[in-house]
Amino acid sequence: MDAVDVAVECVRNERVLFSNILLPTELKKLTIRVRLTTNERAEISRESRRDRKVDRSIHIVASRRSWSRMLPASPSPCKPATLQSTFGPEMASKSVHLPVLQSGLGNTLRRDNWWVGPATTGLVLVTFIVYATFRAFENKFYLSGPYLSPMYSPLIDTSFAKGWPIPLSGAMLILGGPGSFRLTCYYYRKAYYRAFAMDPPACAVGERNAKKYNGETKLLLFQNLHRFTLYVAIAFLFFLWHDSVMALIGWNDGVHLKVGTLIITMNATLLSLYTFSCHAFRHLVGGNVNSYSTARFGKLRHSLWKTVSTLNEKHMLFAWLSLFGVMLTDLYVRSVACGAITDVRFF
Ligand code: FES
Repeated sequence: MDAVDVAVECVRNERVLFSNILLPTELKKLTIRVRLTTNERAEISRESRRDRKVDRSIHIVASRRSWSRMLPASPSPCKPATLQSTFGPEMASKSVHLPVLQSGLGNTLRRDNWWVGPATTGLVLVTFIVYATFRAFENKFYLSGPYLSPMYSPLIDTSFAKGWPIPLSGAMLILGGPGSFRLTCYYYRKAYYRAFAMDPPACAVGERNAKKYNGETKLLLFQNLHRFTLYVAIAFLFFLWHDSVMALIGWNDGVHLKVGTLIITMNATLLSLYTFSCHAFRHLVGGNVNSYSTARFGKLRHSLWKTVSTLNEKHMLFAWLSLFGVMLTDLYVRSVACGAITDVRFF
């Protein structure tokens, strides 16, 4: 979620206090519009800090010129927001319907296009799954000269399965490895839980089943395997970088740089960025340490952790770019292999 608007009506010179407002951590901007009975407006905006906790108090004096003072964050636990009239003729408390309090699937006071995120996520993921399934069953056009599709890398000879009722392809044996890494990725979990389970579909939007939240228990416990799938993903990077080098030097008549070489290298780069920006990798290099200055290899681990932390901030971006990268690279290799396009050579 990027922004939330809250509209409040109150009489002039009335002082209002929002206490313990529950703000989603993704919220970048909270705008509170105070509409006065005389149709004058005051507005307060709060940029969120990236790492802040969600508990906060906001104090507004709804008069024509004076408004908006932030109170220090309250240490008390998050509660639904209350609007209290602490000045003026109305001393009683009133409820403010912040968007986070809406119930019922899709109900919200948000006015932004909150559905675009989950809808796009669902569409892209379904498209990728359908495409990858088609390619896994197609079992051809994955090799052209030294070019190898990432969906078939490493190259596995499946001729032993000839005659089986369901044809076995190398992609069928391979896709489970990187697929399990993506499936259990902390970022993708959030994205596809929202897109497919809609529980809730977005921040501050009513969920499908508000009373039944079990967290990642029972079947979803497999998500804890993410730290192990990380090792699988790192192993695949070796094959992908090998393919990238071969796309440059693996030609029968010497070394050539072609468009395909660049695309295959771009794919290996994006997948490396995605893998090494992983939260589990960040923990692997820098976690489980009380003090870097006294830990073994502490200095090295600290600088690695800082680098990975910088990458980690862009993990979502790398997640999507690398997904598109895999699809594009496979499509390119397939197009060259089946003769649909001609590979352009630079040298
Ligand atoms: S958190 Fe996304 S790959 Fe590890």
